[in-house]
Amino acid sequence: ELADIGVFGLAVMGANLARNAARKGFGVAVFNRNGARTDELISEHGSEGRFTPSKDIAAFVASIKRPRPIIIMVKAGQPVDDVIEELIPYLEEGDIIIDGGNSLFTDTNRRFHYLTGKKLRFIGMGVSGGEEGALEGPSMMPGGTLEAYQRIEPIVTKMAAQVDGEPCCVYIGTEGSGHYVKMVHNGIEYADMQLIAEAYDLFKTVYGLSAPEIADIFADWKTGDLDSYLIEITAAVLRKTDSTGKPLVDSIVDEAEQKGTGRWTAQSALDLGVPLTSITEAVFARALSGRRAHRIEAEKLLPHPEFPKRKPTAADIEAVKDALYASKIVAYAQGFEQMTAAAKEFGWELKLGEVSTIWRGGCIIRAAFLNRIREAYESGVAAPNLILQDYFRDAIVKAEPSWRKVVSLAIEAGVPVPAFTSSLAYYDGLRRARGPANLLQGLRDYFGAHTYARLDKPGKFHTRWSQDGSEVQTS
Ligand code: 6PG
Repeated sequence: ELADIGVFGLAVMGANLARNAARKGFGVAVFNRNGARTDELISEHGSEGRFTPSKDIAAFVASIKRPRPIIIMVKAGQPVDDVIEELIPYLEEGDIIIDGGNSLFTDTNRRFHYLTGKKLRFIGMGVSGGEEGALEGPSMMPGGTLEAYQRIEPIVTKMAAQVDGEPCCVYIGTEGSGHYVKMVHNGIEYADMQLIAEAYDLFKTVYGLSAPEIADIFADWKTGDLDSYLIEITAAVLRKTDSTGKPLVDSIVDEAEQKGTGRWTAQSALDLGVPLTSITEAVFARALSGRRAHRIEAEKLLPHPEFPKRKPTAADIEAVKDALYASKIVAYAQGFEQMTAAAKEFGWELKLGEVSTIWRGGCIIRAAFLNRIREAYESGVAAPNLILQDYFRDAIVKAEPSWRKVVSLAIEAGVPVPAFTSSLAYYDGLRRARGPANLLQGLRDYFGAHTYARLDKPGKFHTRWSQDGSEVQTS
């Protein structure tokens, strides 16, 4: 009997997706360039379902039901192109290659059009949830043609996590839109994690709490508005001791690595002109963390403000929670605004209510909070910015005084909280009808005759700054 789906690439994500599909009752053809991985998968997990292992690509492709859906799970970048070229000679009209990796959306756009030109179909599918998600049910963000998606829908909606009976998988849109949405998911993941790290830093550096004490705080937050997977695993990471009996986290090198999705989100925001400050700060914070040698040197040379440590009161802890929550609202509002801008720019019909729906389970940023975002989009009166939607507006207004206090405290104590700070600056910029950019326009006109608009009359104007100082209308 032919397999329902193929999986090419059996490193941990690929192997777990293959096992997931098999456990849900689908026949799964599996292939890996190094056949030893294939043998390992079959010997360890072959009993979990109907696997068809192959050692060569021709046999692998031939073992799948037409039109063949083939998920490829290989490293993003050139390896994806290589696998596509290896598969093409064996594929037939209408077969579907599904890239489940973290590919750059512009690569996915290119591959989509390339394969369409060959009468093949291509789906760029964001898959979130890490190893465990891939196995137990990830959140899936497939992009490509709707009819290609419909071919795989019965399979992927069963593989995905389920929340309140709804699968965390929905058709996103054409071209690279699925990978775009996954990229923004990861950007938000960067911001979420940075905000958590800043709260941790305040508790540790300003309040002198130990890792297990901070773990207790995060465990407590898990039960409120901040209820999320990342908050939950933060408590677990902080509580973990190593073989010496001391907190593991205290021995982990403070240099954050990154594989690219956060940086791409920020780069796309710059291209689109979207003020994506929180996520971008999170990317820069990782970059600064990576300059460890500079930091070690700088700590010796630069003075640090004197700031006596003191135990936090319940109100102090609550204030940090408010600052985290308000900043999180900003990060998500910016991420969703970016998707709106991208949809417009690239001609995709992104349904953001559905995006928030499939992020409620399976993925790394899964959180109770996403139900509120979904409600905002489904109420039919989506405000131009999520911050202006009733629920979030009330929440952010309530948190605002503590948010300011926490940021001030951090500044006084010399503890960097770039994501808290830039989120607050964005909020303060947003809530003012009139900012200081009038002066920027005046300066631009002064040195470059770039013109300005006036509040009191329509048109564009230029002042002859270095001539007679008179104003002329230019349009
Ligand atoms: C997910 C994760 C996953 C991966 C990130 C890590 O949604 O399951 O985001 O895709 O863990 O790529 O990204 P960095 O290595 O850049 O932190």
